[in-house]
Amino acid sequence: MWDNEVGASKAAARFWCDKIRDGARVLCLATGNTPTAFYKEWTASMQQDSVVASLTTFNLDEYWGIPAGHPGSFRQYMELNLFKPLGLQSDQIHFLPSSLPRAEDTEWDICQRYEEEIRRAGGIDLCLLGIGANGHIGFNEPGSAADGGTHLVALTEKTRRSNQTAFEGPPPERALTMGLKTIMTSREIVLLAFGAQKSKAIHEAFFGPMSEACPASVLQRHPSVTAFLDREAAHHLPAYRS
Ligand code: GLP
Repeated sequence: MWDNEVGASKAAARFWCDKIRDGARVLCLATGNTPTAFYKEWTASMQQDSVVASLTTFNLDEYWGIPAGHPGSFRQYMELNLFKPLGLQSDQIHFLPSSLPRAEDTEWDICQRYEEEIRRAGGIDLCLLGIGANGHIGFNEPGSAADGGTHLVALTEKTRRSNQTAFEGPPPERALTMGLKTIMTSREIVLLAFGAQKSKAIHEAFFGPMSEACPASVLQRHPSVTAFLDREAAHHLPAYRS
């Protein structure tokens, strides 16, 4: 736990870069307001590092039903905050699309292909997660099955409202997301959460019952999760309750 977001982001980026220098190559990445400072720190630490060329990335999720390149898309967020500044090449990057790439595809085909690409890359070494105020990870909303693979989801109103700012009109109603099972196959997980609006979800995730009502609670079963929290997000945890 750190006093503020900056301290926690710096520590998380140091931890993350050490893991990469120790051999983590296949990375799962998150979007949202939470990891932006983390991405800056990571970029500053590795911009000139030859190890960057050996990385493979998979993003957790993408909105469904918006044109490719839409400014509100997670792909655009990643281009701006990490891919361009760090110098990742397009053949290193894997992303769920925001619409059917070919008329003969179905959403199911796309999700199965993504799972297959992760398998072919050797599985995820290191996975970055944020958390929604309702305990969602990726776009696995409350009610998501712990054994679910990559799939199409209907976003809750709460999640749509939180993500409104990236869109001029109403935010998308659906998204493709890596499933909880896929996330749990990661060898190591790093979770970031900042701000009082995350404190309840953090408490439920790590100290509540394991339940579909809080998708992040599935992480209690993972052998290697490290959470980087600011004081506000940690507020409800027994060790930090003030
Ligand atoms: C988003 C993403 C999640 C993210 C979460 C929290 O919609 N799908 O991967 O962790 O919601 O977002 P933020 O960091 O902006 O609070």
